[in-house]
Amino acid sequence: MIGTAELVALEDDVRRAVRTGSDAGLRVLGYGEISLVIGFPAGQPRAACKRLPAFASAAHAARYEAVFERYLEALRQRGLTVAPSALHTVPASDGTVTGYVVQPILPAEHLAPAVLRTSPPDADHPVVRAVVDHVVAAVDETVGLDAQLSNWVHADDGRLTYLDVTTPILRGPDGRSALDVDVFLAPFPWAMRAPLRRFVVPSILARYHDRRSVLLDVAANLLKERLDPWLPAVVTAANRVLGTAPLTVEEVRKDYVSDARQWETLLRLRRADRWWQQTVRRREYPFLLPGRIER
Ligand SMILES: Nc1ncnc2c1ncn2[C@@H]1O[C@H](COP(=O)(O)OP(=O)(O)OP(=O)(O)O)[C@@H](O)[C@H]1O
Ligand SMILES: [Mg+2]
Repeated sequence: MIGTAELVALEDDVRRAVRTGSDAGLRVLGYGEISLVIGFPAGQPRAACKRLPAFASAAHAARYEAVFERYLEALRQRGLTVAPSALHTVPASDGTVTGYVVQPILPAEHLAPAVLRTSPPDADHPVVRAVVDHVVAAVDETVGLDAQLSNWVHADDGRLTYLDVTTPILRGPDGRSALDVDVFLAPFPWAMRAPLRRFVVPSILARYHDRRSVLLDVAANLLKERLDPWLPAVVTAANRVLGTAPLTVEEVRKDYVSDARQWETLLRLRRADRWWQQTVRRREYPFLLPGRIER
């Protein structure tokens, strides 16, 4: 889907974008909270390349890859169709390794939010039903899932394909995250990493291991996607499987506000580190950050 030389060229383009502070020339498909998703080639993309923060060494990248593969396998075992996804790496001159998770490009009009936009709200819409069913089948103490609509593609055959695999939300038998979360803390100020690792990351990850909070998050994200009219339908669909602890529209709205605030704070911390590295330390800040996000 993308050759080694092509990926090296793409990484050069990203580095240039980092230096110039402009993503012109890059086909940015999504600024996720974690990864930057770039279409390649820019003209008519066939690959979605999800750039991860740099790994300290090839061994660190290999450890990530092992967890990543286990996560894909666990999702498939639980009945999900996962977009074909492979880790590719580009070594940098300083010994670090940049990872890209590469997937085929799936048609934008089939992304779940786009699909819902074309029909009236309905708790029995096949996309809504399938998302809820997949959450029930996949989520537990071991496997976590970010089931937000923007992470699903609705194929012509009616099946949903899951896209968002760059952060493997997986726990080992000891109940600890199998993922070395430090990779994802690299874009944050150095002094903040320990408190984030200890107090923030565990609570963020824990949400994805609990069906109710995953469904709450799915519903809350409708507001970010400007799919507000779908909120009652999705709450109804979620409550069919939640039994004695149903969601309320009120709760979803509150959750949306506090969740948006948390991600905004995390983005601000990364911006602060960018300023510190670039302006004070005169060093490169090797990540592209989104501009203003409508939340
Ligand atoms: N294979 C793909 N084909 C087409 N578009 C894609 C593909 N993968 C991702 N995208 C687009 O990029 C967006 C972000 O991708 P993804 O969810 O994998 O990244 P993320 O960093 O985990 O995002 P977030 O942290 O916000 O959940 C998707 O919502 C989708 O719009
Ligand atoms: Mg996503």
